[in-house]
Amino acid sequence: MTERALEGRRVLLGVTGGIAAYKTPELVRQLVERGADVQVVMTPAARQFVAPLALQVVSRRTVVSDLFARSEGAEVRHIAMAREADLALIAPATANLLGKLAHGIADDPVTTVFLAVTAPTLIAPAMNDEMWRHPAVAAAVERLEEWRYRFVGPEEGFLAEGYAGVGRMSEPETIAATLAAMPYSTIARAGGGAPGDLDGVRVLITAGPTREHLDPVRFLSNPSSGRMGYALAAEAAARGARVTLVSGPAEISAPAGVELVRVTSAEEMLAASQRAFATADVFIAAAAVADFRPARRFDHKQKKATLDPHLELEPTPDILETLARDKGERFVVGFAAETENVIASAHDKLLRKHADLVVANDVGMPDIGFAAEENQVSIVAPDGSVIELDRAAKRTVAGGVWDAIVTTRKA
Ligand SMILES: Cc1cc2nc3c(=O)[nH]c(=O)nc-3n(C[C@H](O)[C@H](O)[C@H](O)COP(=O)(O)O)c2cc1C
Repeated sequence: MTERALEGRRVLLGVTGGIAAYKTPELVRQLVERGADVQVVMTPAARQFVAPLALQVVSRRTVVSDLFARSEGAEVRHIAMAREADLALIAPATANLLGKLAHGIADDPVTTVFLAVTAPTLIAPAMNDEMWRHPAVAAAVERLEEWRYRFVGPEEGFLAEGYAGVGRMSEPETIAATLAAMPYSTIARAGGGAPGDLDGVRVLITAGPTREHLDPVRFLSNPSSGRMGYALAAEAAARGARVTLVSGPAEISAPAGVELVRVTSAEEMLAASQRAFATADVFIAAAAVADFRPARRFDHKQKKATLDPHLELEPTPDILETLARDKGERFVVGFAAETENVIASAHDKLLRKHADLVVANDVGMPDIGFAAEENQVSIVAPDGSVIELDRAAKRTVAGGVWDAIVTTRKA
């Protein structure tokens, strides 16, 4: 029995002209089973792959596939449809749809309605693997993500072309479950944004690992990729914040609209963070700072034969603790990567370091956390209460973390 997680929610479903459109009656059924009231809008191309009547029967609502059809009353139907939606979904999303939505083109029923949608929107792309890899499509996806569109799939599997590749639409059940669990983040608008937004909020985020050098070619470090901190920075910028991202060595380019300060060691990260902290409203310590560094650093590469196999170490500065000590009105968020007693350790860290929230992840679990594409975190508050976020792409998790920060700051 499926949980009725979409009970009473009005879901706007846009269907575009990919072969996977034949799965949309099943998708609508899955949404209805979860309690949603589904309004379908489709492109002329989509009608080649699925009959509007089939969608009409399963959604129990008139399907819109012609904007200029005569309607009852004087309201502008496509704007009303956009406004009525609590959640929006485009499945399947063609390469054509992604390109048009990313460029504000509105020349069919789906793009016209979706340009007016502000509700949290999930997109399930489906296309040939070469189309998916085209830089124009990749750029469109990146742009849409910056504007807070969420994505599910495409997945690897057998394509309509008769071979396996990445491009297959996620299964209807996965799409419906993802929509039901999606964090609430509305689509960006110029000069305005999500509820409880970050317009004008000054944010400092640390990200990535640090490197503690013994000599120019040897260092202590860890496998952090920086992706979580970068995703938090991108999400904050997309919500209107002024973001300074102080990053240890990471192979990711700066998110749009973010000031990136590159550093190497914990000492440098502290110095750069102190400068930005002076004017920050929110500080998120997402970096995986090395705890220790070699007590002595050599300016020249040491010969193997001359190196002492017993390395003397000393602690690095604790950036979160140092900054949070004098936080004043600032809102401070720590990260705790643990492998056991995750919540208890995170709560302990929160109290010790005067943080307002701690984001905890279990880095002992396979495929999440360090260097992974996805993450699954729990957000711990001072009173011990915990918000559990579902496992998702780091950008989606970043949305959930910011939702929690915005709500807690206001409370
Ligand atoms: C048999 C067939 C299957 C197609 N499947 C896809 C697909 O899976 N994904 C896609 O992006 N385009 C696909 N196309 C191309 C789109 O239908 C075409 O780009 C169309 O203009 C999309 O229009 P729309 O985005 O307005 O629905 C397919 C075309 C044909 C003829």
